[in-house]
Amino acid sequence: MAESTKSATLTVGDKTVELPIFTPTSGPDVIDIRKLYSQAGVFTYDPGFTSTASCDSTITFIDGDEGILTHRGYAIGELAEKSHYLEVCFLLLYGELPSPKQLEEFEDLVTNHTMLHEQMMNFFRGFRRDAHPMAVMVGVVGAMSAFYHDSTDINDPHQRDVASIRLIAKMPTIAAMAYKYTIGQPFVYPRNDLDYASNFLRMCFAVPAEDYVVDPILSRAMDRIFTLHADHEQNASTSTVRLASSSGANPFACIAAGIACLWGPAHGGANQACLEMLKEIGTPDRIPEFIARAKDKNDPFRLMGFGHRVYKNRDPRATVMKQSADEVLELLGVDNNPILQVAKELEKQALADPYFAEKKLFPNVDFYSGIILEAMGFPTSMFTPIFALARTVGWISQWEEQLNDPQLKIGRPRQLYQGEDVRPYVDIENR
Ligand code: CMC
Repeated sequence: MAESTKSATLTVGDKTVELPIFTPTSGPDVIDIRKLYSQAGVFTYDPGFTSTASCDSTITFIDGDEGILTHRGYAIGELAEKSHYLEVCFLLLYGELPSPKQLEEFEDLVTNHTMLHEQMMNFFRGFRRDAHPMAVMVGVVGAMSAFYHDSTDINDPHQRDVASIRLIAKMPTIAAMAYKYTIGQPFVYPRNDLDYASNFLRMCFAVPAEDYVVDPILSRAMDRIFTLHADHEQNASTSTVRLASSSGANPFACIAAGIACLWGPAHGGANQACLEMLKEIGTPDRIPEFIARAKDKNDPFRLMGFGHRVYKNRDPRATVMKQSADEVLELLGVDNNPILQVAKELEKQALADPYFAEKKLFPNVDFYSGIILEAMGFPTSMFTPIFALARTVGWISQWEEQLNDPQLKIGRPRQLYQGEDVRPYVDIENR
């Protein structure tokens, strides 16, 4: 951690404390309040962590005012255009872009870990066929600690490496199998001659009855979607992974916790909710009605795929996703897709509305991703599992970073207690 050269003075009653200030590489200064309670006897209060840095990190940076997202210093737009997902995985995990040899070795390593323990097939079969694939993923990933207990010792760096590669490699297989299971088709096993995205598409869409050739355009689009979702600093699911891991939990349990958190519609579940909303709107003439509902304080409805805790400007991932939607739909010959027309018109009308301008609400990554995924043939229930598989590398990188942090402590927030003070117990006959 950097040396502090500045400090803030806080006076609480008759106590004055000096709080060190750290200056990050980028972003606002951070006041270190770790000794606040012992020196001043008070806690800070920040539900939702709107002003709280929970850790120091070197992986991902977001400048929400400027709409900038970088991984290890590289802008997301450049990574999405010039790189590919496994290269970005290497960058997130190890801090630098790989050399050609490193990349080849890394791709080989991931490719050779894509199969699941055969016994896990029985585990899938324990779920109802109509289960949401996210429910299946939470269960199956959690169960990996029962199938791969030779990589659950977090104090052994080798076991941590093996668990990381296993998770990144097997997540597409798990997501694809969760999908196949819900539609009643046989599982399709991974193939080592295919790249990561093509392999996933094939495992989702191939059937034993006929050949399936992966369209390189779709494979590139899939890979770009993975890249755009790879990491996003201390968001809710990543913070969940870090919190779970702070107790010493095994990697599979931690990532299952991250998947569970991602599922919510305010987070990764927004891609499914957004497409469902666009379909419900249906035609551009109904947009004003939905915008009015989103602005109505008495209506819980929100424009899904709009707004972000950190971005108060365009989400740079949404910009790439929108271009990708145009390209993919044109290449698939569905550029007159009515949902895309509704999305574009909704974006235009919302951005021109003072409510959204004043609150700095812009389309986020989930606004256009569902349109591409649907055009590729995925049902809405698979949108969040795809987010989860892509985000696994981010969770793993942050998990590994935390375990190497000498300042690691179990995460244990305090509270502002508003309940009853101590009172005498009332016997049942007197209640
Ligand atoms: N539609 C209408 N109003 C909104 C929206 C929206 N999508 N988002 C925020 N607002 C309003 C909100 O009502 C509040 O108004 P006021 O100040 O008058 O009470 C103000 O904007 C600030 O909202 P907030 O809920 O305090 O902001 P937050 O930082 O806690 O929430 C958010 C961020 C992403 C949960 C929220 O914008 C939202 O619910 N968006 C829709 C869901 C969504 O698209 N989520 C995906 C996020 S990006 C991918 C990911 O992280 O997984």
